[in-house]
Amino acid sequence: MIPPHKVDEILSAARIDEVIGEFVNLKKSGSSLKGLSPWTDEKSPSFMVSPAKGIFKDFSSGKGGNVVSFIMEHEHFTYPEALRWLAKRYSIEIEEEKPSPEMEEARNERESLYVINEFARDWFAEQMWESDEGQNVGLSYFKERGFTETIIKKFQLGYNPDDFQAFTDVALAKGYKDEYLLATALVKEKNDKKYDGYKGRVIFPIHNLSGRVIGFGGRTLKADKNIPKYINSPENAIYNKSASLYGLYYAKQAIAKGDVCYLVEGYTDVISFHQKGVENTVASSGTALTRGQIKLISRYTQNITLVYDGDPAGIKASLRGIDLILEEGMHVKVVLLPDGHDPDSFSKEHDGIAIKEHLEGNARDFIGFKADLLMTEAAGDPIKTNDVIHAMVDSIALIPDTILRSLYITECSRLMDVSETALISELNKVLRKNHRTKFRGDRRREEIPEAPLIENDFKKEEQFVEDTVEHQERDLLRIMVNYYDQAFQMEDPTGEDEEVEQLNILEFLIDEIQGDDISFETESYQKLFSEVAKNFNETKDFQPSTYIHHEDEVIRNLFIDLMSFPYNLDNWERKDIWVSSEEKKLRRAVIESIYAYKSKRIERMIKNNQELMKDQVLLGADPDDFLITQMKLEEVKLQINKTLGRTILH
Ligand code: CTP
Ligand code: MN
Repeated sequence: MIPPHKVDEILSAARIDEVIGEFVNLKKSGSSLKGLSPWTDEKSPSFMVSPAKGIFKDFSSGKGGNVVSFIMEHEHFTYPEALRWLAKRYSIEIEEEKPSPEMEEARNERESLYVINEFARDWFAEQMWESDEGQNVGLSYFKERGFTETIIKKFQLGYNPDDFQAFTDVALAKGYKDEYLLATALVKEKNDKKYDGYKGRVIFPIHNLSGRVIGFGGRTLKADKNIPKYINSPENAIYNKSASLYGLYYAKQAIAKGDVCYLVEGYTDVISFHQKGVENTVASSGTALTRGQIKLISRYTQNITLVYDGDPAGIKASLRGIDLILEEGMHVKVVLLPDGHDPDSFSKEHDGIAIKEHLEGNARDFIGFKADLLMTEAAGDPIKTNDVIHAMVDSIALIPDTILRSLYITECSRLMDVSETALISELNKVLRKNHRTKFRGDRRREEIPEAPLIENDFKKEEQFVEDTVEHQERDLLRIMVNYYDQAFQMEDPTGEDEEVEQLNILEFLIDEIQGDDISFETESYQKLFSEVAKNFNETKDFQPSTYIHHEDEVIRNLFIDLMSFPYNLDNWERKDIWVSSEEKKLRRAVIESIYAYKSKRIERMIKNNQELMKDQVLLGADPDDFLITQMKLEEVKLQINKTLGRTILH
């Protein structure tokens, strides 16, 4: 926990232009700074930083935020991680709240394991580069496999001498505790004798997202079938196999930038691809893909392409892992490499451009790929074909996105020569079944909603109305956020009424909205508005920084977004009306926004009232009650429209 006063200190010290300037080359552009988006490959700059407002907006990727969110996005940090990064950058000491003895001990254990791993990594590398055995056996092995010195150094590869206890001796001499050494399995113990777990193996350190070493893979150099080809670190306090991916530390930026992650099988595949410049590559290291690993990738991209060596048995085995990816709502493609190549051997024969071309040109959508694979296997046998259809529908049912699901149904119908209607009815069955499984035990839920596969057309019109209100609400908030402190009078300053109270725009809008008991229909807008109104009513003050750094992510992001697209007053400069000053333009924008919005809301209330009346009267209710409401609403509507008309004609 970083104490709140420290958070404030960090936020006030951090200058957004300085911080972002470390990652993006920024040039002055008016009152802002401009640069190339760090998230896309754009050629002309659309990444803006406003030092005055303390925000950035990347128009090519749509990302925007404050200095903390930039570090979170760019470095893929959590909120506390980003704050710590900033604290370090501005030399602010964080005295964290004192951890409990158990936490202290857990931290000690984790820290000790890191220290041992990092010592081991350095020692293995030193052995490989400096000792005769290391050079002749370890280094020459990597070089024979075509790895350059640069890539060997980058991936921090090493060698554990072929000696019973070479590493064990130095590690014990350094004073590392037995308990921790054994937990890494770099040191093992039998009959009270300790010895090297990775003896005579070349070493592949495994890194976490921030580049710390959490484990090792050690490959034997012997052809003996009786010894395991790889030894991998056991799970311990810092190594969780199912939540780590080999190479991700080196791949994450490229994955985000290329918006796709290539998934290969092994350590050597990752390194070979990276050496050829295909850096958006990671491996699940021989194990089946897990949900945790997929979640890791989804921090950087929604697109995964599996790169296979074309062995059908291997592919079939991994189909389940692929379903997991679909379930996460991500997009999966599959590339087969030709002639029994694996990524490692394929990259020995091709340069980076050719590899990328092959990957991009041959990536097949997973659904089509699976259908083909299984259909070929079924070879026309009707019973098997039926199984295939069910297997496909099962996969499609996992996809959370309705539209994507229907696209896949169309695709599958074409590939498998089955009517779409049949597939849809099968899909609906599966969806309902899955749904029921999900809600099993919830007795109140007798009615299970229909699976929303087939789009209902009658919804469209309603949606359109919804959108206009959303748009109007957004306009109102934009004016509020960008012009809050401008003076505002309801009546024209040249009019007779001298008594009107002088308000600013924020006060005016809060009065208008709260006075009529309106709440925004869009949930996030209401959240921001009620927070602003509450703070303003309590303190009579409005500070944008409160919201730019707000702890609630919804409020923070919305506020920054509203600020980044300032309200364009020129929309109010109509051809037929000459608006002389900015002040008048603003006045018109404010009044039109609030009253057009109210008018829309009132219209909808009238419509609802009419519909309610129809239903209730049929059930025997007195229509008069509804008619009275109707008249009141019409009266309000008239008032609103008068005000609106007056403003527009002024
Ligand atoms: N693997 C493992 N234990 C084994 C075999 C394989 O952990 N006994 C894992 C390793 O992470 C390995 C991956 O599965 O990288 C792929 O296996 P394989 O293709 O056999 O190894 P490569 O790393 O490709 O090694 P090489 O190129 O030397 O065959
Ligand atoms: Mn391999």
